[in-house]
Amino acid sequence: MIVIKKNYKYPWFKPFVDKSIKSKIGKIFDKNLNTMGLKTKELENKLKKYLNVKHVILTTSGTSALFMASMVYDLKPGDVIITQNLTWIATINPFLIRNCKIVLADTIHKQENVNYDSLNKLIKKHKPKIVILVHMNGQAVYNKNFNKLRAKMNFKVIEDTAQSFGIKGDKKNFAGTNYDIGCFSFSISKLINMVYGGFCVTNNNKLARKLIAIRNNGVNSNPENALLELPTEIGLNLKPSDLHSCFGIENFKNKHKIFNNAKKIYKKYEQKLKNPKLELVKINLKNSIPVYVQVLVKNKKKFYNFCNKHSIQIHFGTRTLDNVIKKFRKEMLNNSIYLSKYLVRLPCGPNYSLYDLENIIKILNRY
Ligand SMILES: Cc1ncc(COP(=O)(O)O)c(C=O)c1O
Repeated sequence: MIVIKKNYKYPWFKPFVDKSIKSKIGKIFDKNLNTMGLKTKELENKLKKYLNVKHVILTTSGTSALFMASMVYDLKPGDVIITQNLTWIATINPFLIRNCKIVLADTIHKQENVNYDSLNKLIKKHKPKIVILVHMNGQAVYNKNFNKLRAKMNFKVIEDTAQSFGIKGDKKNFAGTNYDIGCFSFSISKLINMVYGGFCVTNNNKLARKLIAIRNNGVNSNPENALLELPTEIGLNLKPSDLHSCFGIENFKNKHKIFNNAKKIYKKYEQKLKNPKLELVKINLKNSIPVYVQVLVKNKKKFYNFCNKHSIQIHFGTRTLDNVIKKFRKEMLNNSIYLSKYLVRLPCGPNYSLYDLENIIKILNRY
């Protein structure tokens, strides 16, 4: 049996915390604008400029952003949505709620990125209404043949960029800004966090107006309608608070420092982790910024117990969706199922000191 231990000397993730935040938070209470006030607008504007997109719609989480994206489309039960098998369940939950048919593509060998051979074949076969591309762990995934299929078949593309804010890959534009809607997470276990938060981006004015309304129980973004509280869509209360936006602004200001730390942490593991039982999942630092440092380990339970004994917390990483949607032929999803079985996240996160990591790695090398 796995024993849950509460206080670890080495938690699995140390988020960035700006020490000056305490003094700044007090000031927003003075303004009496705690839900979607000036700080939220300020953060939306900063993100718009940085990502070079027309619209940023801030919300309460990456899950909320995906939910909002799902609500802008006229989906019917049975409409096909294709995404990759290895992703967090939040990618598909909004579409399961709408009774859509989820089709899953495999990932590439020992990598979390989608296998485009598998994805493009499934697109041709199932003619999806929407494809959700997932940019996992600070890596952007794009493909020319996919773009050709999109031009021909006219499906919508949502980019789940929850784990990949600030990544360009080999593209000119940032991941999450290349198709219809991009969804991002600024949760506590991401490089840039606002404790809880996320946002949608789009360059399409009509979609942006819908997203803004959906965030506010469907009440239209036009001020005159908002005053009358007339809903034009079905939505929920998904408005972020200025308190969270305040955290987001401070973290965003430190993005370059945070990104550099994340790269240094990965490099430290790459240089010092010399245990053949722990196979590092490779990231190309030229194009990517890893949020998580992950290894493949044959006996997760045994490794978990070893780490527990040394007060090291590990995380079992992203699991595959075929566990939830059971009607798939497993042999088509071999690579992602393999990852789901053996992948573990090691202690990481932008607030870790390299000194602590060296100590952790010394212990891990003895496993
Ligand atoms: C791939 C992916 N999509 C969506 C989400 C949901 O984001 P949030 O936790 O902010 O709701 C996550 C969260 O980790 C994620 O990893």
